[in-house]
Amino acid sequence: PRQIWVTRHGESVDNTLGRIGGNASLTSLGKQYGEDLAMFIEAKRAEFQDRLFYDMTRESNLMHGGNFHERNEYQPDFNNQSPIEPTTPIELDPEDEEKIIKPFSVWTSMMKRSMETAAYFDDEQYDIKAMRMLNEICSGVCDQLTYEQIENTYPEEYEARALDKLNYRYPGSGGESYLDVIYRLQSVIVEIERMKHHVLVIGHRVITRIIIAYFLGCRREDIAHLNVPLHTVYCIEPQPYGTNFYQYNYDP
Ligand code: F6P
Repeated sequence: PRQIWVTRHGESVDNTLGRIGGNASLTSLGKQYGEDLAMFIEAKRAEFQDRLFYDMTRESNLMHGGNFHERNEYQPDFNNQSPIEPTTPIELDPEDEEKIIKPFSVWTSMMKRSMETAAYFDDEQYDIKAMRMLNEICSGVCDQLTYEQIENTYPEEYEARALDKLNYRYPGSGGESYLDVIYRLQSVIVEIERMKHHVLVIGHRVITRIIIAYFLGCRREDIAHLNVPLHTVYCIEPQPYGTNFYQYNYDP
């Protein structure tokens, strides 16, 4: 099945200071995450090629009425780089090979922390694109503040957001609500659904929540409260009946 991978960027300097918004760079741990993420996805991509080989083998076996062995379902485990047993290689003519090497897109926001996380992906292997629509929620006057500072400086705002996070729009220039972000993500989500090949979205907390919620069919009022920690990769496999969902936790 086609895979939709979603993660937040690696740890940023603002993350370590508890500040929201901003456009900070990655910490050394955040860079390490980016590097390991690229290796992890590359291993998964290779694994997927194996699966296609397997399916083709299976298909040709079927055509010849032979036996075939079902592959064991792999266990999601970030540290286990190649959980699938190698399959018998088969000869491919160039045309089949063409079909097998599927493009793999990596989409980031226009924010430094997201683009810096993608910097470790080989742009000859991946179709890397940065888009403003994937930027984190704009927190207006609260940009660059900690939640504690927001509570002290703008107590009514803090209260209003706590009461209705989904609808609450940050005051100040460009300030957004979750609903605003859901709205601006619509065309990205339509494109993700439409495309036939794999994609990895390196987003932010709100972006990750919304994409996961969309594909898993979460209730709107739960979106803003989904737990999506840093350094976690999610894999969504839409199927004709239901959706497979895997979570990989990064252990540096
Ligand atoms: O702290 C990281 C961050 O991505 C902020 O930039 C953003 O405002 C916040 O998380 C969103 O999370 P929440 O909606 O829970 O405040």
